[in-house]
Amino acid sequence: KPCKLDSIESLATALKQGCFSNIVVLIGAGISTAAGIPDFRTPKTGLYDNLDKYSLPYPTAVFDISFFRRDPQPFYKVAKELMPTSPQPTLAHRFLVMLNDRRMLRRIYTQNVDSLELAAGIPQSRLVQAHGSMTRAHCIECHAEHPIEKVREAMKNNQIPVCENCTGVVKPDIVFFGEGLPERFFTLSVNDLRVADLLLIIGTSLVVMPVAGLPEMVDDQVPRVLMNKEPSGDIGERPNDLLLLGDCQETISRLSALCGWQDEIQRQKL
Ligand code: OAD
Repeated sequence: KPCKLDSIESLATALKQGCFSNIVVLIGAGISTAAGIPDFRTPKTGLYDNLDKYSLPYPTAVFDISFFRRDPQPFYKVAKELMPTSPQPTLAHRFLVMLNDRRMLRRIYTQNVDSLELAAGIPQSRLVQAHGSMTRAHCIECHAEHPIEKVREAMKNNQIPVCENCTGVVKPDIVFFGEGLPERFFTLSVNDLRVADLLLIIGTSLVVMPVAGLPEMVDDQVPRVLMNKEPSGDIGERPNDLLLLGDCQETISRLSALCGWQDEIQRQKL
């Protein structure tokens, strides 16, 4: 029988009492802003509001595969200028590790390409990097794999990394608009969302499909909790939805305290 959640306190109680064993977590850029990585759509600070100098036809062109084929420069400049070099997992990432340690976590679906979930200690098997990651790179023409270090090196020298076999442009394995998501997303999501006993959504505007379609896939009775600065998607429209609006790191800090997990999370950091 699904747990009824109507406040952060009842969520903490349910977590402590072991109500959940198949939590599905859906995360976006808002979980990593505390690590110094800008999100996309927050006015002023979001990446799409800071692209004027790149003369793009429209902001999302920077991550559009057909645009990239014509001109890969803006992507590489943006990647170099706006991404911190060695970001650290946030408190919220470490909270997800606690859920996994307690055998409550079914899967994390992340739209982020920063791999901070893995850096925090989430096993690869529990993670679906729906929009790929920056840890590998391939040629967009002959699809040969290239060491990501070479891509980083080229970026550092303001060069475009090219393939030695065919001179095609090399692109990190992040999913651009116009590209398909990894097979893993499709093979796992249907069943994961069917068996989920809690959907926890953190830091996403829920506008980019198909990831934005996941919250609809859970059963009506299953609680959906949103930790975000603002409402997103249709969360709040079902009786079992819980909106925890505000900074997600603060919400998680409060939740950890209510669960009595603070010390353990602190220790995890060391
Ligand atoms: P967005 O920038 O669209 O949304 C981030 C959400 O997080 C917004 O609703 C913010 O209000 C919220 N937010 C930011 N900082 C927060 C914080 N500290 N606490 C709580 N909430 C916070 O980012 P995504 O939803 O991840 O795809 O974007 C989805 C996809 O669009 C990305 O994966 C990327 C982008 O285009 C591709 O490039 C393919």
